Amino acid sequence: MIGLKLLLLNGPNLNMLGTREPEIYGSETLPELVNAVRGYAADRDVELRDYQSNIEGELVTAIQEARLWADGILMNPGAYTHTSIAMRDAISGIDVPVVELHISNVHAREPFRHKSMLSGVCLGVIAGFGRDSYFLAIEALIRHLS
Ligand code: DQA
Repeated sequence: MIGLKLLLLNGPNLNMLGTREPEIYGSETLPELVNAVRGYAADRDVELRDYQSNIEGELVTAIQEARLWADGILMNPGAYTHTSIAMRDAISGIDVPVVELHISNVHAREPFRHKSMLSGVCLGVIAGFGRDSYFLAIEALIRHLS
């Protein structure tokens, strides 16, 4: 399908990419990464809108509003992955498929990162491939929707 519209959501602390624990998350900034993903999308005739927030309720609202225009959502929920029933309910409440993604392999890290409140209501999960997790997630979403 051509002309897809996707939302890229980034949660708390992802605005700090580039300086935040670069040994885990890399040295690229969020705007650099988002631009690269947007270019990847544009090459496939996909429009990518992006939104980052450190505030749980704003992410909930972005998910709710996406039901009005988006064909799919790719999302790095940051630490809200492990805690947010509100985001889970927002995802459950819309018909739009969501791919959860993580830069790091959360399963190889602290035990509290092994649990996701969100995975069970997502189309799928990609974790552990560094910045490539974003590209793999968008590719997975495009394939699912095509
Ligand atoms: C993360 C993993 C989370 O556990 C963490 O809280 C983040 C980033 C990742 O991309 O690897 O903020 O989602």
